[in-house]
Amino acid sequence: MRKNIVAGNWKMNTTLQEGVKLAEEVNAALKETKANCDVVICVPFTHLASVNGVIDQNVLGLGAENCADHASGAYTGEVSAPMVASTGAKYVILGHSERRQYYGETAETLREKVALALANGLTPIFCIGEVLEERENGTYNDVVKAQIVDGLFNLSAEDFGKIILAYEPVWAIGTGKTATADQAEDMHAHIRSVIAEKYGKEVADNTSILYGGSCKPSNAAELFAKPDVDGGLIGGAALKCADFMGIVKAF
Ligand code: PGA
Repeated sequence: MRKNIVAGNWKMNTTLQEGVKLAEEVNAALKETKANCDVVICVPFTHLASVNGVIDQNVLGLGAENCADHASGAYTGEVSAPMVASTGAKYVILGHSERRQYYGETAETLREKVALALANGLTPIFCIGEVLEERENGTYNDVVKAQIVDGLFNLSAEDFGKIILAYEPVWAIGTGKTATADQAEDMHAHIRSVIAEKYGKEVADNTSILYGGSCKPSNAAELFAKPDVDGGLIGGAALKCADFMGIVKAF
């Protein structure tokens, strides 16, 4: 079912102690002010089990930022979907542009990761988005369509219905340069039409599509007011409880 969601992506930030404290703060703030959307934090692997111990997942969902493309075995340093699920986490970010760009993630590895996440009961938050050059040369709609087709369209309609999408224009991530609410809406409507072509209008209408890229308390309300924008994936502003809650309260 389509839901409004604000999800934090902590990236490679906070020590374990700092992360547990931040999670406790967000959890307490959400107990005080009931959110009008689902709220999730995606944290480093090292923090998952401890954070799960200090939050109430009825008010604050927990996710990882990645998982391996194999279930187990000789893959030194990797963390599998079953391991993530065993911490109590319920979500996993997959295909973030930083993973695609710096760690060479391809559509093929992402299909494996999505399948393993789903098989282990994790909800993938699947990221897509064009780089600046593709925005400027006008190919962005095709680029994003290809990311969805290649990464996800092997799924059955039932499994596709379990995916949360996050449109994150790479040129807006961590740059302070947000897409305008109209640019976000145009892309989200395009994404919904791409889904409808493959799985039908009902599946498309039921898909949550989040916007990510320099989303902050000052621009969240305008973005979230758009009919096809169902929330945000928040990087930098998720690292301060007050900023993150400011975005949550935009709903
Ligand atoms: P940002 O990151 O909010 O810091 O731009 C968003 C993301 O990469 O998920």
